Amino acid sequence: MLSCKDLLSIHDLTTDEVNEILSLAQELKTMQKAGIEHHILEGKTLGMIFEKSSTRTRVSFETGMYQLGGQALFLSNRDLQIGRGEPIKDTARVLSRYLDGIMIRTFAHDKVEEFAHYADIPVINALTDLLHPCQALTDLLTIKEHKGQNLKGLKMTYIGDGNNMAHSLMYACAKTGINFVAATPKNYEPDTDVLVNAKADAAETGATITVTNDITAAAKDADILYTDVWASMGQEAEHTARTKIFQGYQINDAILKLADKRAMVLHCLPAHRGEEITDSVLEKHAEEIFDEAENRLHTQKAIMALLMGDIYHH
Ligand code: CP
Ligand code: NVA
Repeated sequence: MLSCKDLLSIHDLTTDEVNEILSLAQELKTMQKAGIEHHILEGKTLGMIFEKSSTRTRVSFETGMYQLGGQALFLSNRDLQIGRGEPIKDTARVLSRYLDGIMIRTFAHDKVEEFAHYADIPVINALTDLLHPCQALTDLLTIKEHKGQNLKGLKMTYIGDGNNMAHSLMYACAKTGINFVAATPKNYEPDTDVLVNAKADAAETGATITVTNDITAAAKDADILYTDVWASMGQEAEHTARTKIFQGYQINDAILKLADKRAMVLHCLPAHRGEEITDSVLEKHAEEIFDEAENRLHTQKAIMALLMGDIYHH
C-alpha cells in the first residue's frame, strides 16, 4: 500500500514503499514467466499522455495494462486539446471522469504536479525534465537481480549529465542505502534542490551522495556504472556543444577497468554509442542492460497495481 495518490518522485516514497514496489515487481515477474495471469486491473483504463518520444515507456505501460487485465489509451498532445491550449487543470478534471489512472511524459516537472493536484485519479510521472522515477525504480530491481537483495553499501557511479536520470537515481540510491557518486562536467552537476533532498533521505539510510567532476576517482571500485545521453529530449539544439563539453565523460573499457571486477553497467536507453558509452562496453554488458529494459514492464505493473488496484488501493 502506498501512502501517496501519485508517483511523481521517489523522494515522496518511504524506503518501505520502495521495497514494496520492488517485491511486488519481482512477484509479478515470476508469475508472468510461469504463465500465471493476474488481472488486478480488470476493467480499468490507463491514459498515457506523451509530449515526448518513447519506445520503452509506451510499450511497457501499454503491455503491462493488458497483462493486468486492463487497457491503455495512447494520448498524443498533438491530438489532445491540451496541445491547442486547453488548461491542464481542466484536462486533469475531465480525464479523471473517464480513466482510472494516467501516465504523463512531458517537459516541465510542475506540469505533472499541477495535473496530479487537479486529478482525482493516480498520476504516474513517465519522465519530466527533472525526474524519471519509473526508470530508477526499475534500475533498483535490476541491481537486486544481479547483486542480491541487500542494496546497502553498494557503490553506484553515474557518469555524464546531471539530468532527470541522475536525479531519480540519486533519490533511489538515497532511499535504499546505495552510495551514489555523480561525475559530471563542470556546470552540468545535478540540481541543487534535488541534491539537498537526496542528502536528507540518505541521512536516514546511511548512504553517501557525492558530486564530482573527477570521473577517475568516481569510477574507482564502483559496483554499478550508469550513464545516460549527453543531450536529453528537448536539448537537441545543444547536441553539438554538449558533445565537446562531455568528452571524457564516457563509460569505456578504461573506465570499466577502474570499477569493481564484477561491476554492472546500466543505461536507461536509448544509447548513443561512441558518446556516453562505447559499443564495446554496451555489448559486453548487454544482458544487464536489456534485463533493465525488460524490468520496466514488471516494475510499472507493480506501480499500477499499487496505485490503481482495488486490492492494494489505500
Ligand atoms: N528509458 C526510457 O524511458 O526509454 P523511452 O524513452 O524509449 O521510453
Ligand atoms: N535523459 C534522457 C532519458 C531518456 C529515457 C532524456 O530525458 O531524454
